[in-house]
Amino acid sequence: MSDVAAVPLLDLRRAPADEIQALQSVAARVIESGAFILGPEVEAFEKECADYIGAPFSLGVSSGTDALLLALMALEIGPGDEVVCPTFTFFASGGAVWRVGAKPVFVDSRPCCYNLDPASLDTVLGSRTRAIMPVHLFGQCADMTAVQAIAADRGIPVIEDAAQAIGARCAAGAAGAIGLMGCVSFYPTKNLSGFGDSGLITTGDPQLRTRLDSLRVHGWGPKYYHARVGGNFRMDALQAALLRLRLPRLDELAARRRANAAFYTEVLTGAGVAVVQPSVCRGEADGGTLDLDGKIGLPAQCASDHTYNQFVIRVPEHLDRDRFRAGLAERNIGTEIYYPLGLHQQECFASLGHRPGDFPVAESAAASCLALPIFPGLTGAELGYVAEAVIEIAQRA
Ligand SMILES: Cc1ncc(COP(=O)(O)O)c(C=O)c1O
Repeated sequence: MSDVAAVPLLDLRRAPADEIQALQSVAARVIESGAFILGPEVEAFEKECADYIGAPFSLGVSSGTDALLLALMALEIGPGDEVVCPTFTFFASGGAVWRVGAKPVFVDSRPCCYNLDPASLDTVLGSRTRAIMPVHLFGQCADMTAVQAIAADRGIPVIEDAAQAIGARCAAGAAGAIGLMGCVSFYPTKNLSGFGDSGLITTGDPQLRTRLDSLRVHGWGPKYYHARVGGNFRMDALQAALLRLRLPRLDELAARRRANAAFYTEVLTGAGVAVVQPSVCRGEADGGTLDLDGKIGLPAQCASDHTYNQFVIRVPEHLDRDRFRAGLAERNIGTEIYYPLGLHQQECFASLGHRPGDFPVAESAAASCLALPIFPGLTGAELGYVAEAVIEIAQRA
């Protein structure tokens, strides 16, 4: 019998002892260097990240949110402009659009993976659309083959919100290296887990790179001369140095997340608990097919190398999610609801005039999703404990 009595959603303290020692000596090195903002550590990290992602340029910034904001500022998007993003995402995607004064235009999700549904783009793209911002939700790429084709057809830039998905790949390429710009987060819950807030922005365009570099430091260039207004979006040297140590292990950690997900998927789907995952996201029946006048091959490649930043189940409709979650909490199992509302349902966006039912897939996802512990340090016994509890609660009702 297993002696597991509790499983947290995420335990950031479970780093291997040799990693902790290495992190401590890196921190000491940076402290002794006296160089704390941008500088050689950040430049080295940028180069290593660009190589890892496969993007020509990358810039370390203060957070994933700021990466999104910078991308929009670099394209001079503002009042009167529209930016299309999914409604089922973390707030930052829509919030960044709002903060530059533009209008976030929401689209629904595919019912299989909950990523943006490219089939809805045609209905919202118009003369005011200045960018499309797909989000690689939970660590799985959106259907970038379809998104890129639609965007290229209309000459609209694509900003990838890859905050949750560094390391993910799909038919169109690596998350963060497909669109005109890619935005990554190193918030501690992310797969490349930082020690505070930080993020990265990538691009293949040298002119954009120069503009982003200037905007990151209040829009200056040269120093103390400002042709544009930017902000303080700089990355700390300490963050960069610590993350440099973790970057080489990222794929190994993602592989462990995948193995954990494979275990859950097999055990839970065998017991009839629906799992949001790519393997069921290929066919027409799943809404995973897209036919744009024959321009895109069928079926659309929704499936990608999922990095499982989150492992999400749909709580079966006949169950009350709060009670389901409470049942897991009683067994000391940490869970989270990503996300309880679509952005169109958020009070701050009420002026956009959306109504319940506008985005049925996103609304159903928001009502049924529940994330389970998936982090790489979980033991087999812990995974078994969680799966057993989920099945027991699902079958009891
Ligand atoms: C989809 C998405 N976009 C943007 C962000 C913002 O990243 P950060 O928390 O680093 O600002 C997050 C972070 O959770 C996210 O999940």
